[in-house]
Amino acid sequence: MSNRHFYHFSALPMSMRMVYTMTLLVLGTGYLFAMLQVFFSHAGLDGKPDSLSAEDIRIAYHGSDSDTRLETALKGPMAGMLPPEERAVIFAWVKDGTSQESYGQKIKPIVESRCVACHDGSNPHLPVLTSYEGVTKMTARDEGATIPTLVRVSHIHLFGITFIFFIVSSIFAHAYMRPLWLKCAIIMLPFLTILTDIFSWYLTKMYPGFAWFIIGSGALMGLSFAIQWIVSMWQMWFYRLPDEIQECGGALPVLGRADTRDV
Ligand code: HEC
Repeated sequence: MSNRHFYHFSALPMSMRMVYTMTLLVLGTGYLFAMLQVFFSHAGLDGKPDSLSAEDIRIAYHGSDSDTRLETALKGPMAGMLPPEERAVIFAWVKDGTSQESYGQKIKPIVESRCVACHDGSNPHLPVLTSYEGVTKMTARDEGATIPTLVRVSHIHLFGITFIFFIVSSIFAHAYMRPLWLKCAIIMLPFLTILTDIFSWYLTKMYPGFAWFIIGSGALMGLSFAIQWIVSMWQMWFYRLPDEIQECGGALPVLGRADTRDV
């Protein structure tokens, strides 16, 4: 019964199929850019710049438990700026809790002779290391995304992604797919996974293991988008409905049309 008002793509006017096709083309391109954006904003947080890993996701939301930015820099790009003994002094100072007192005695002279030539504020893109406050900014524990940031991104995602999937699944609703539960599952999936994705951000901030939920949600969302996109495009232009359904003008057959009239 619920099938009676189903119209397959082939029953829609050419102009409507054009609207759907162009919408899918632009949304598909948008999805690719969204994935690039995820890559550029997360890849490399774990120190390996060319790949996106679960560790990257964990650091983005939970922060890094091991190194501060100062240590990471001194092990990486800044390693050549000072002799190893002096570097060890800085590491020990970070481990001991970065007290202002020992900063004045041990760290300040090193920083002044080795670092401030570049880190004196003359280059706005470099951290300024001319004061105790400036240096300790680089030694605060990296706590990942802040709650206000997560809240901001959450509401943008919830609204934005609901719009996108409302549009895509309204188009996909015209596809012929059996069993019906599978079609319904594919339609429901992105709406459910955007919720699990966003709640997992907050959980990952507290418990880093939840990074896998973020990855899983994103993967299922992408899978559902891909299926809806491909099936819609294909059925819109290349697919021929089975004959018994075709006869009803794209509407699925009401089992025994005569019967319905009789009842
Ligand atoms: C010759 C100039 C130069 C000197 C000297 C120098 N740096 Fe840097 N530093 C840079 C540049 C350029 C960057 C940014 C590019 C990069 O990260 O490779 C940077 C980046 C950094 C960062 C930021 C990394 C991040 O997380 O964004 C820290 C921390 C840092 N330097 C610490 C130091 C310390 C400590 C010293 C002294 C031992 C030092 N630098 C000496 C040029 C210098």
